[in-house]
Amino acid sequence: MEAMLSSTSLQLRPLPPHSLSPLSLSRLQLPRGRTPINCFQKTSQSPVLPLRIYASSQTAPASTAAATSSSIPSQMKAWVYGDYGGVDVLKFDSSVSVPTVKDDEVLIRVFAAALNPVDFKRRQGKFKASDSPLPTVPGYDVSGVVVKVGTQVKSLKEGDEVYGNINEKALDGPKQFGSLAEFTAVEEKLLALKPKNLDFAEAAGLPLAIQTAYEGLERSGFSSGKSVLVLGGAGGVGSLVIQLAKHVFGASRVAATSSTGKLEILKSLGADLAVDYTKESFEDLPEKFDVVYDTVGQGDKAVKVVKEGGSVVVLTGAVTPPGFRFVVTASGAVLEKLNPFLESGKVKPVVDSKGPFPFAKVVEAFSYVETNRATGKVVIHPIP
Ligand SMILES: NC(=O)c1ccc[n+]([C@@H]2O[C@H](COP(=O)([O-])OP(=O)(O)OC[C@H]3O[C@@H](n4cnc5c(N)ncnc54)[C@H](OP(=O)(O)O)[C@@H]3O)[C@@H](O)[C@H]2O)c1
Repeated sequence: MEAMLSSTSLQLRPLPPHSLSPLSLSRLQLPRGRTPINCFQKTSQSPVLPLRIYASSQTAPASTAAATSSSIPSQMKAWVYGDYGGVDVLKFDSSVSVPTVKDDEVLIRVFAAALNPVDFKRRQGKFKASDSPLPTVPGYDVSGVVVKVGTQVKSLKEGDEVYGNINEKALDGPKQFGSLAEFTAVEEKLLALKPKNLDFAEAAGLPLAIQTAYEGLERSGFSSGKSVLVLGGAGGVGSLVIQLAKHVFGASRVAATSSTGKLEILKSLGADLAVDYTKESFEDLPEKFDVVYDTVGQGDKAVKVVKEGGSVVVLTGAVTPPGFRFVVTASGAVLEKLNPFLESGKVKPVVDSKGPFPFAKVVEAFSYVETNRATGKVVIHPIP
């Protein structure tokens, strides 16, 4: 069935070097219904390149035809590693057993997946003490279609288009069979219906990052009228912290840090102040914040710019009081709560322009995430 889905993501696409004038954007052929917002990005390979940021409508992939329970194969294609290590441990395997479905789970035909830093840290063996046994099919984030439901599943049914982070506790026994596969089995409570306006690739980039952004803001006591400084505003989590703080929680002021080429992106997401960390130190800002949300690992400096009685959310690195660290808990309910903001376009997925990476290019996608330079989310799509 071909469905018309309207999309509101920010797609960052570098233009060829010969078209450096932003004026030239108006002459370019844009996909139907897309409205470009001019901005500039410096990439590792090039000087400043103009980008197109789409905020628009788009047609979903033509085929959302999924396997039905009667046609689910016993084996599937998947990426697998049998040892911890670098990207070279990742192997493509076309005869992995399709996971069995527990009573509270559904089986998803995977249409898109996304990578998070936890995927490569786990693969490197950083969490081996609490990991599931090897071999591992990696991948936390997924979007796809339900093709089978367990006996205790209450709301979801075959044919539902869903998205979610498949591991309730990111570091504590994440599933052995993740989302970088044709099929994955997930508890119903970790899923939500995919926002109608987003395609599968856009939806797949959201779950873990948006849940982390939301949970950190909630735990910090963030609320309407408060100010926040986001360290790492252009990353997967940071790009959503900016948007949730501004458009969901009602922040009075949002500041964020990035390198020079990404400052316009921070502003387009809702930052009132974009701080170029290559030119100035955020500790020298003439203001302090109710909350500092650190996605970079700068907890020692972050505490210097928080107001007395404020909070410092730390996702990675050392924690300096009054900072606190937490590990995200996946929740379909959080996605459902945020779906109206996604469907209204107030909150937009940001998909890195180097992707989406096709399923055959998962190793390249991992390598790119590991550079720590991704803008928004690194998405894997299509999955054949
Ligand atoms: N505790 C948890 O539950 C949890 C959950 C999710 C993520 N995390 C952790 O949080 C961290 C961020 O995750 P993510 O998914 O957002 O990563 P990501 O998308 O890979 O982050 C990449 C971004 O980081 C920015 N960046 C790098 N160094 C920076 C600096 N010194 N100042 C400002 N920005 C900088 C880069 O921007 P530039 O190119 O401009 O430098 C890039 O856009 C990772 O360590 C991840 O493991 C923890």
